[in-house]
Amino acid sequence: MLMKKIINFLLLLTVTAIWSQEQIKNNKFENLLNEEELYRPNFHFTPQKNWMNDPNGMFFYKGKYHLFFQHHPEGNTWGPMHWGHATTENLFQWDQKPIAIYPDEKGYIFSGSAVVDPKNTSNLAKNGETPIVAMFTYHNAKAEKEGSETFQSQAIAYSLDEGKTWEKYEGNPVIENPGIRDFRDPKMQWDDEHEQWVMVLAAQDKSLFYTSKNLTDWELASEFGKEIGAHGGVWECPDFFPIKVKGSDETKWILIQSLNPGAFNGGSGTQYFVGDFDGTTFTPVASQKELPAQHSYWLDFGKDNYAGVTWSNTNLPENKRLFLGWMSNWQYAEKVPTKAWRSSMTIPRELYLVKKDDDTYRLFSEPAKQIDSISKLIHTEKTVKKSRGSKMVLANSAEVEMDKLRLKFKLPVLAKANYTFNLSNDNGDSLKFGYNSSEKRFFIDRGASGKINFSDTFAEKNSFAPRSANDDLLEVEIILDKTSIELFYDNGETVMTEIFFPNSPMTTLELSSLTKHLKVKDLKIYELQLN
Ligand code: FRU
Repeated sequence: MLMKKIINFLLLLTVTAIWSQEQIKNNKFENLLNEEELYRPNFHFTPQKNWMNDPNGMFFYKGKYHLFFQHHPEGNTWGPMHWGHATTENLFQWDQKPIAIYPDEKGYIFSGSAVVDPKNTSNLAKNGETPIVAMFTYHNAKAEKEGSETFQSQAIAYSLDEGKTWEKYEGNPVIENPGIRDFRDPKMQWDDEHEQWVMVLAAQDKSLFYTSKNLTDWELASEFGKEIGAHGGVWECPDFFPIKVKGSDETKWILIQSLNPGAFNGGSGTQYFVGDFDGTTFTPVASQKELPAQHSYWLDFGKDNYAGVTWSNTNLPENKRLFLGWMSNWQYAEKVPTKAWRSSMTIPRELYLVKKDDDTYRLFSEPAKQIDSISKLIHTEKTVKKSRGSKMVLANSAEVEMDKLRLKFKLPVLAKANYTFNLSNDNGDSLKFGYNSSEKRFFIDRGASGKINFSDTFAEKNSFAPRSANDDLLEVEIILDKTSIELFYDNGETVMTEIFFPNSPMTTLELSSLTKHLKVKDLKIYELQLN
């Protein structure tokens, strides 16, 4: 009797063990994976701990890309802002450094930029060093509370040791507040043609341009934007730089201008303007002269790419610029279901400018080329065909790591080519995205993508993006990490970036279509190799 009981007990133990192993394999229980394993991205920058928003002060120097970021090191929601710091050599693996700039009695350290000053125009180096000069906004929270309207001003910090440590300039602030509540986010750039530094900052409903010879004395040159483009919210985090048009010698200036709220799909987003700069004034090109509030010049149509700006001092050719944005949206950034840290950046992207046949200019973005050196080709196929009604599995976790995935392929765009991709797992979580050719637009639907109830606006409606290319082949590039999808259509002419929080890891990516035959051309599936 006792023997039988023991045998039964042992049997039960074995069955339970097998059963729970099965569960682990199927990832049926989300609590088997902790937040770190489930949600910490593999190759997107996230702070080790606590809150992050905008990228700041990005510059390249001596083989290292520096990224600073709006950081609240004491909490996982927005708070007193510091400049956190991280560096990378390959743009996909990051090394977090000690905090670079701390708030002080003049205020929190809001967003801004940094430039390398090799000629020491700033005279901040006394012993032959190369100064790196940062400009940020002081946000005086105390003055704001007391009812002041002039609590934001611009200030400088500099580094004489290649960006490791930072000293605040003793003449701060370098630009006093002229009486504008929202007066912030200075972005500096060397203007080679006019031999001057130019800086743009956001002033509520417009961008202000300043010029300087020495980075410390600044003069207001002009303003732009009051009656142009989207104005559903406050303008923030501009960027302003020259770029050569692809395949030509023509140079244009790009003004990147984030705003919140008022983006194409609601909340925070980033529009851009293309034009000429005469050293004082920015004039948009003819096709953008009377750009209405509803327009299609958005750097990214997805909901999660905000406050993005470009690196200074890179060694890219003159027709490229390296960009990165904050992969979240103020609508829900403080509520996303991670506790240890909050928010991640997009992957770095190369921007380039294309002049189209109709004389409009479009800013394209593609993953930074460094991605190639970590992309391991897993599968390639010239043409994959399926008959009507069937689905095509493009990738699944048995063959490739779904959270380090890069796919490239082409789809024929026929009159009724409605393509739907479904990224899913065994828990029933499903992120849908694709293209609807009768509406000529892309979409993302994260309504069933996992955790969505932390905010009313996260999955309230689908996001859309108009397709501006006309080719009958649609080029698609998809970058997948644990909690983000970055979609580059038509070589980056239209981009959509969104985050999502599945209950267990996504395991399958399928494609279905309403067309007669489902055909995918030049399919390439890569796994990103990170060591
Ligand atoms: C944009 C922004 C900036 C500001 C910073 C404060 O997300 O509001 O305008 O400098 O965040 O953290």
